[in-house]
Amino acid sequence: MKRILVTGAGGQIGSELVPALRARYGSENVIATGHVSPLPEEVSAGPCAYVDVTKYSQVDDAIKECRVDTVFHLASVLSALAERNRRDAYDVNFNGMNNVLEAGVANRLDMVVAPSSIAAFGPETPSDNTPNDTVQKPNTVYGISKVFSELMGNYYSTKLGLDVRGVRLPGIISWKVEPTAGTTDYAVAIFYGAIREGRYTCFLSPETRLPMMYMPDAISALMSVAEADGSLLKHHADFNVNAMSFTPSELAAAIRERIPGFEIAYQVDELRQGIADSWPDKLDDTVAREEWGWAPRYDLDAMVDDMLENLGRKLGAAPAV
Ligand SMILES: NC(=O)c1ccc[n+]([C@@H]2O[C@H](COP(=O)([O-])OP(=O)(O)OC[C@H]3O[C@@H](n4cnc5c(N)ncnc54)[C@H](O)[C@@H]3O)[C@@H](O)[C@H]2O)c1
Repeated sequence: MKRILVTGAGGQIGSELVPALRARYGSENVIATGHVSPLPEEVSAGPCAYVDVTKYSQVDDAIKECRVDTVFHLASVLSALAERNRRDAYDVNFNGMNNVLEAGVANRLDMVVAPSSIAAFGPETPSDNTPNDTVQKPNTVYGISKVFSELMGNYYSTKLGLDVRGVRLPGIISWKVEPTAGTTDYAVAIFYGAIREGRYTCFLSPETRLPMMYMPDAISALMSVAEADGSLLKHHADFNVNAMSFTPSELAAAIRERIPGFEIAYQVDELRQGIADSWPDKLDDTVAREEWGWAPRYDLDAMVDDMLENLGRKLGAAPAV
C-alpha cells in the first residue's frame, strides 16, 4: 500500500480517514475523490480528484492517472437516505462497488478496502453478541447492498486475486463532520443539542440498543485491517468489529452526568426506528481480534468525555448547564 485513492472522501469517515492515511503514507500519496465539489477542507489540503463511482470510466481513469495501488471505497448512500432514494442507492452502492472491483482487477490493484455495516444483518440475525458468520437477511436497500459488497469482496479475493477487505462498522460517532443520512446519527446530534441548548429530541425510542464506535477506533479498524498480514486472514470483506453498545437513554444519562441540566425528549421516526429494530444490539468480534488483533480504545465514558471536549471547542461554547 503505497499510493491510495479514497472514494466518497468528503463524508463523515473520509474527512478523518484521509488525514490519517496522509499522516501515515505521505500527503502526496493519498488522493481524495468525491462527486461533489469542493471537498471539505479536511481533505482538500492534499491531492484531490472528481470521481463519480457510478461511472466506470471515471473510476478507471482516476486509478490510472493517479497511479494508485489501493482504493479505500467509502462512497455510499447510507441507510435512511437509501430507503428514500432506492434508485440512487442502487446505483451508488451496487454499481459503484462493482465499478471499483472491476477497475481494481483491470488495473491489478493490490487492495480494495470497502467498509461494510451492521446493516448487513437483519431481523432474523441473533441480535445479542451477533456471531461473525450468521444469518444475513437484511430488510433494507442499504443492508442488502452491504451483503452484496461483502460477498463480492470475498468472491474477488478468492476467485480473482484482488485483495478486498472490510469491517462491519457500527454507528460512528464523531465531532468533525456531522452525519446526515444514517439511523445512528442521533448519537452525534445529541451532543450538538446538549452543547448548544442543553436539550435534544431523539428520533429513536429510549430503549433502542445499538452497537456504536468512536471515530478514532473506526479509523484504526479500517487501517489495521488493510495493514494486516494477508496470510493470517481467513475472512476478507466481512469482519465484525465491536466497541460499545448503548441506548438513547443510557447515552443521555452519560451526558447528564457531565451536563446536569441536560434534557432528552423522544419523537420516534418510524422509518429509522424500523431500521434500528432490524439491527443487532452488540457484535461478537472474536474473529477480528484473532485474525488481525482488533481492539477498540474508546468505551462510552471515554467517548462522551472526548466528544464534549472537542465538539464544545469546535462550537466555541461552554457546555449548556
Ligand atoms: N457513518 C457510519 O455510521 C457508518 C456505519 C457503518 C458503515 N459505514 C460505511 O462507511 C462508508 C463511509 O460512510 P460515511 O459515514 O463517510 O458516509 P457519508 O454519507 O458521510 O459519506 C459518503 C460519501 O459518498 C459520497 N458519494 C455519494 N454518491 C457518490 C458517487 N456517486 N460518487 C462518489 N461519491 C459519492 C458522498 O458525497 C459522501 O461524501 C460507507 O461505505 C458506509 O456505508 C458508515
